[in-house]
Amino acid sequence: MPFKFAILAGDGIGPEVTAEAVNILRVVAELGGHDFQFTQHLVGGVAIKSAGTPLPTATLDAALESDGVLMGAVGGNEFNALPPDKRPEAGLLQIRQALGGFANLRPAFAFKALGENSPLRADVIKDVDILFVRELLGGLYFGEPRAWNKDTHSAWNTMRYTRDEVIRVARVAFELARTRKKKVTSVDKANVLEVSQLWRAAVTEVAAEYPDVTLEHQLVDSCAMLLMSVPRHFDVVVTENLFGDILSDETGVISGSLGMLPSATIGGAVNLYEPVHGSAPDIAGTGKANPLGAILTAAMMLRYSAKLDQEAAAIEAAVNQVLDAGYRTADILRGNQPGQQLVTTKEMGLHVHSALTHLIDTRQSMHGV
Ligand code: IPM
Ligand code: MG
Repeated sequence: MPFKFAILAGDGIGPEVTAEAVNILRVVAELGGHDFQFTQHLVGGVAIKSAGTPLPTATLDAALESDGVLMGAVGGNEFNALPPDKRPEAGLLQIRQALGGFANLRPAFAFKALGENSPLRADVIKDVDILFVRELLGGLYFGEPRAWNKDTHSAWNTMRYTRDEVIRVARVAFELARTRKKKVTSVDKANVLEVSQLWRAAVTEVAAEYPDVTLEHQLVDSCAMLLMSVPRHFDVVVTENLFGDILSDETGVISGSLGMLPSATIGGAVNLYEPVHGSAPDIAGTGKANPLGAILTAAMMLRYSAKLDQEAAAIEAAVNQVLDAGYRTADILRGNQPGQQLVTTKEMGLHVHSALTHLIDTRQSMHGV
């Protein structure tokens, strides 16, 4: 059965890192005999320039017809003066809403080879493996009313959730916890916000369906601190949209670079896959971008959309091998460590390519005996 992947490379370093991710997917297809089909579409700033809108209809239609959407990044300095609904980021929010995925999975883990890269002590981050489940379609990002009234010099946004919106994302968190360490931390601000009180009540309701999974509630401020002081405490963390946006970037510190982190948004008509990093316009076109976040995002796409778990695991293993061998893009190079070699975006992609080829060849020959 063919898998149709829509590639929305976007702005800044998006096209460079996405190209490497697609190369890796091609390797998987070739070696595993899978039929992956790729089409490229415009989103973000490039779409504003050529089509006058950050999410052209043709892009949205192609995304809705695909089996998975792989995004690069959107945004650029030249658009900073535009109002929120005209900026490249609006294209991202529109496509999230149109595809309907409400559960944004953001893993945060310590890579063995990058233990010294984090500003956190190596013994604090050792073996950390956290999975954020960020609610992606509600809360302050989409709540109405919202406005900036320039006459009265006041502005407002609305944090709003329904019980059903909380229940559906909580179920995703509990299901995933079952495949991991069976622990869910739900994050809110229930000591102040009514919406958090509803959140807490709804998550507690869902917990009753999962007696094998432990649930704890944490307030967002103390959770932010615990994520840095005892990150090993956490397994699956479920939280509302804005808290998840902030905490998942904070937790990115554990891996040493945002350039390493993937994400997947599931639960809608078509799943959406984006590396956590932004478009980094300052380094676009210089070969400095780290493609590993995009490559690991492609691995999540194989796992959650194509159900190719072994292939996804092989990509993850290949990335770790390349890091173990000392290859580093500029963002993860540390001056004081021996055995590292600075590589460009393309070279990093090629190293993952050859590690992956080797891994899959070895597996296939093992299956052959
Ligand atoms: C993210 C980003 C986006 C968000 C922006 C670019 C709209 O920060 O994916 O975390 O806030 O969701
Ligand atoms: Mg963010």
